[in-house]
Amino acid sequence: MESKIRHVSLTNERMSDLATLFLQVFGRSFDPEDLRHKYDTSFLGVHELGLVAMDGNCAVASAGILPQRFIAGDQQWLGAQVCDLAALPEVRGTGLHDRLLAEALNIARERGVDFFFTLPNDQAHRALDRHGFSWLGRMRGFRIPVATFPLGRLGRRFPLIQRLHLSIASRILNQSKGADSFQNSHAAAGALCIDYSRSYVLRKRRRPSAIIDAGGTPAWVAADSALEIGDLETAGVDDLDPALGALSRVARRIGCSSLLFQCTAGTTLETALSRRFMGFESWPVGVLGCRPHVPLKDLRLNFGDMGTF
Ligand SMILES: CC(C)(COP(=O)(O)OP(=O)(O)OC[C@H]1O[C@@H](n2cnc3c(N)ncnc32)[C@H](O)[C@@H]1OP(=O)(O)O)[C@@H](O)C(=O)NCCC(=O)NCCS
Repeated sequence: MESKIRHVSLTNERMSDLATLFLQVFGRSFDPEDLRHKYDTSFLGVHELGLVAMDGNCAVASAGILPQRFIAGDQQWLGAQVCDLAALPEVRGTGLHDRLLAEALNIARERGVDFFFTLPNDQAHRALDRHGFSWLGRMRGFRIPVATFPLGRLGRRFPLIQRLHLSIASRILNQSKGADSFQNSHAAAGALCIDYSRSYVLRKRRRPSAIIDAGGTPAWVAADSALEIGDLETAGVDDLDPALGALSRVARRIGCSSLLFQCTAGTTLETALSRRFMGFESWPVGVLGCRPHVPLKDLRLNFGDMGTF
């Protein structure tokens, strides 16, 4: 089979093939339009870094590479998230995916990527180990229940309810919306973090989302079955109550039955949340530098930085 395999760039035209591959690998349907949106990083001047392995007209494996502009103090770096690693069961364990990923990483290096980061599951973790990724520790998750009619959760099972939920969420988040961009909450401390430019935030809007005022501080939120908190600036550990109150009120009106946070361990927000709530271990964070002096140990990620947000 191997000789017939071609590696092709993950262009707009390939998103239907990618969606078909994901349906077989992950067992649920993906909208090619959503995938197009996710991979449209043309605003950075760098795009189409990922690869798909094609056997004739059929996609058998994928390696997604999503470039993002990072800042660290007054320096800028081009980071790239390695994501959407998938292979059909019949080609796993053959090295086919390994070669695809190696080529995708090389193309990205040649196109100027300074470092890679990744938040994989266990299967992808092993594949990434082989490519030299090192691990910074896991994100910490916090789920805070909100008493409401669980429209979002029911929407996962019933498409009609989902449409209703999305339209309510869009309306309410639009009403509460503030700016189109804001400063990453880790930027002031000089951490290595994504530059939340207007184009970056707009590209993320596959689901109802907005930057809203949460009790005096900007919060970037997206509505799913939970109200997901993409980023939230907290001045100190005692500072959380007004923000949580405001976020819970928005979640209640939208029908999101919890607030969901994913934070880098040790950050102000994570410390503040862990004093009040029981957290859980979430995705591991892997990094791989492409050149010296990238301050990888200072990497701080938010929920909003995930491919799924
Ligand atoms: C993640 C995934 C894409 C990795 O694909 P894979 O085929 O398992 O991984 P590789 O192509 O790297 O294959 C490597 C394995 O094949 C073996 N192998 C056999 N022949 C090989 C060869 N010629 N060259 C390299 N490796 C070879 C390796 O030893 C390795 O085994 P090991 O993991 O026990 O060490 C695949 O497991 C998958 O699709 N999982 C489901 C989707 C998923 O969860 N994706 C992650 C989302 S974050």
